[in-house]
Amino acid sequence: MAQYSYHEPVLVSEILAFLVTKPGIYVDGTLGGGGHSLAILRALQKAGYSEGSVLIGIDQDDAALQEAAEKLKDFEARTVLVKGNFQAIGSMVKSVCGEKGLQPKVTGILLDLGVSSFQIDTAARGFSYLREGPLDMRMDMDSALSAGDIVNTYEEKELARLFYRYGEEPRSRSIARAIVAYRLKNGSINRTQELAGIIRGNAVGRDKIIKTLSRVFQALRIEVNRELEVLRRALYESIDCLDDHGRMAVISYHSLEDRIVKTVFAEKARSDWGPKGVGLREPLERGTISLVTRKPLVAAEQEIDANPRARSAKLRVIEKL
Ligand SMILES: C[S@@+](CC[C@H](N)C(=O)[O-])C[C@H]1O[C@@H](n2cnc3c(N)ncnc32)[C@H](O)[C@@H]1O
Repeated sequence: MAQYSYHEPVLVSEILAFLVTKPGIYVDGTLGGGGHSLAILRALQKAGYSEGSVLIGIDQDDAALQEAAEKLKDFEARTVLVKGNFQAIGSMVKSVCGEKGLQPKVTGILLDLGVSSFQIDTAARGFSYLREGPLDMRMDMDSALSAGDIVNTYEEKELARLFYRYGEEPRSRSIARAIVAYRLKNGSINRTQELAGIIRGNAVGRDKIIKTLSRVFQALRIEVNRELEVLRRALYESIDCLDDHGRMAVISYHSLEDRIVKTVFAEKARSDWGPKGVGLREPLERGTISLVTRKPLVAAEQEIDANPRARSAKLRVIEKL
């Protein structure tokens, strides 16, 4: 049974077990409706860690910040909510800590990637091929590029490359061709259902149509919000601002995201032993983190039954050395 109407958080008990280990600064870089943040604040309180703890909640969507402010109001004194992109997590942490006279050394960071159920379900945001709305897809409504700008201005080759790279869509070229042909005939594409109609005309079979629609919409969302680029930056910045033994947990929902998380974590965990056969006693450079989860954790069947969104969730956790 869903408890949250805005967004049902996933893997909550796992996040609490890995992250909430002592009092300190906690950062939720993807605040959303504040479900994970509320759970973290309650767990800190239950463990007697509230004194000396602060939660910094970051989101680039004003609607999320509004919702979370309401949900977290009982913990107002221990919470700072910031509008911004998590790619600048380091400077946001520094600025909040500067104002509060705290050392910018973070005990726990959470990134729960992608969009919230609220964003997907709000037709006016244009994220869903199931809902009629403008082709928008911006998480940050102050940013410039919308999905409509992309489908109406990118050249056929750029569109095909985009659908292939960010959607892993096998029919990327024919869909790009159909979009450009539609533009030439009709002037522009402005609505989600207009685009969905073009995609449907280029996919074969019912199952394939749904997969193709999800892949093309995913590709556009990633491009609009530069999701992969900002994720990579956020991971490096987050590791930098963790305190010794501080932990970071990342929940990803598709293979492109998970691949970046896995690769950056592996790179930062690896020590450099120089060329093979040299037999150094000490590495030239030591890894700066350890992998708390060697393989990603997934949700139990029971959670997936209650919250289908949990089906694709993968959780990776690291600890700063
Ligand atoms: C999956 S939801 C998080 C839900 C949240 N954990 C909860 O319990 O309600 C992802 C949220 O992160 C935000 N987000 C995604 N990418 C972001 C980024 N680069 N910077 C800041 N916020 C981002 C989205 O706007 C969305 O509100």
